[in-house]
Amino acid sequence: MTPTRLEITRPDDWHLHLRDGETLASVIGHTAQRFARAIVMPNLKPPVTTVAQAEEYRRRILASLPAGMRFQPLMTLYLTESTPAEEIIRARDSDSVFAVKYYPAGATTNSQSGVRELSRVYHVLEAMEKHELPLLLHGEVTDPDIDIFDRERVFIDRHLMPLQARFPGLRMVLEHITTRDAVEFVRGAPANVGATITAHHLLLNRNALFEGGIRPHNYCAPILKRETHRAALLQAATSGDPHFFLGTDSAPHPREAKEADCGCAGLYTAHAALELYAEAFDQVGSLDRLEAFASFHGPDFYRLPRNQDRIALERTPWIVPDEYPLAGSTCKPMRAGESVAWSVVGG
Ligand code: DOR
Ligand code: ZN
Repeated sequence: MTPTRLEITRPDDWHLHLRDGETLASVIGHTAQRFARAIVMPNLKPPVTTVAQAEEYRRRILASLPAGMRFQPLMTLYLTESTPAEEIIRARDSDSVFAVKYYPAGATTNSQSGVRELSRVYHVLEAMEKHELPLLLHGEVTDPDIDIFDRERVFIDRHLMPLQARFPGLRMVLEHITTRDAVEFVRGAPANVGATITAHHLLLNRNALFEGGIRPHNYCAPILKRETHRAALLQAATSGDPHFFLGTDSAPHPREAKEADCGCAGLYTAHAALELYAEAFDQVGSLDRLEAFASFHGPDFYRLPRNQDRIALERTPWIVPDEYPLAGSTCKPMRAGESVAWSVVGG
């Protein structure tokens, strides 16, 4: 019989966009209801490039938490070509910064200050390797001559493999992987390399971009891929392999910024994140593997303690609202107006 209730150690989200100001206040509750901690992305405008800025941002996140909620933001720095190696020492000595995020310039939302030429940040990567600070990679090339569906695979060949050869001890997470190629690379890599997988890449393939017409709310970076890739991701996530762990990449955008001539990349999934992962694992009869993926592999990779408290889910369907308030506008969440098969008990 398939289970109708599931209780697991409280999970963490190892890749999350919380934004700032009123938007932050609109979304933080969804994450804090489900997750004890999250790795918070630094792609604000302007980006979070220093430990001092990360600490201020951390205080704003904590101040925006709804009363009575507990949540621990794990901060990251945005790597630029002018990041000094000393910033890595400051990060190591801080108790708030846990990683550095690499955006290839132009790859996605607020990535303009990112890196154009990896060799220009080698001195920073050397310091990160030495001080064991993880590098989180948005793994796509930005070369307009490369087909958008191939940009992750080409990044692995052109940049990730040479990077790994040059800095074999560097702790790296290939974020939001979307291809069989990424699964194979990470699976074959040593334990200092990991990968996050989103719920939307486990549940949707690229057909979701064009269901009866163009679907801007299913557009994200890296873009959804064909079914064979989705199947490979689901196999990896449910395999029990500790290289792979949960990272939602939940990325709120106001509705009008997505339903636009040039719509922004990002799916909002924080409202149902754990429930959507449960659906994906349930699809392949692997609910018994959800806890390790959601609650163990991430803290083990980051060398942080696993959470002590627990969270329960039950197979009770609910209808996702058409939209959520978002700083004076609205945000259309994943599954808007449709049903999600699992609920968080007491959530
Ligand atoms: O879809 C995405 N949205 N991918 C990213 O890499 C960035 C994110 C955002 O910040 O909106
Ligand atoms: Zn992201």
